[in-house]
Amino acid sequence: MLTVAVLISGTGSNLRALLEAAADPRFPARVIAVGADREADGFAHAEAYGIPTFLVPYEQFDSRVAWGEELTAQLAVWSPDLVVLSGLMRLVPPAVVDAWAPRLINTHPAYLPEFPGAHAVRDALAAGVTSTGASVIVVDNGVDTGPILAQERVPVLPGDDLHRLHERIKPVERRLLIDVVRRIANGELDLVVASVPPSSESSASITETP
Ligand code: GRF
Repeated sequence: MLTVAVLISGTGSNLRALLEAAADPRFPARVIAVGADREADGFAHAEAYGIPTFLVPYEQFDSRVAWGEELTAQLAVWSPDLVVLSGLMRLVPPAVVDAWAPRLINTHPAYLPEFPGAHAVRDALAAGVTSTGASVIVVDNGVDTGPILAQERVPVLPGDDLHRLHERIKPVERRLLIDVVRRIANGELDLVVASVPPSSESSASITETP
């Protein structure tokens, strides 16, 4: 059984979906702890499912590094197999990424590498694109630059505003997240393999060309 810790900042609708999925005894993963960088509304979902929560309030630390050290300490208490960033509106410091990689994954409300960053839905609307999407990635030390594990397109419809578009993206994010966690737990998706950079074959053939 794969054990999962989930980190949130907000309403935790993706967390709730994962908790619902994991409540099915046939689901091969269990959420064992939920953490947040602030008093997140989403803690209520964890409590409803009897899952322990922990708070690492960003504002109470002098630096991102110090916050990351406490986050690492809290995660070590639970020692999960996988950490899911699900709406954690905070860049995780390199020490945390390096400690957990590649067992640290993130959901993102855009079709990466399009629209990375904290305002992906707003940026897609501002760009006037006709479709955006949702992605699940392995976290690396860039901003939403890690290996893509799953993604799907979501159309931008006439009259969409930030809320309407985001609410249409979120169910796709949830479905992708649950599927990725299931595939990791089943051994169908190997995070180490998924994180290997693209094959060096092409560059090798280039260097071998006279
Ligand atoms: C998700 O779209 C997530 O990708 C984004 O914020 C949203 C979180 O929603 N960064 P929720 O807290 O799971 O409801």
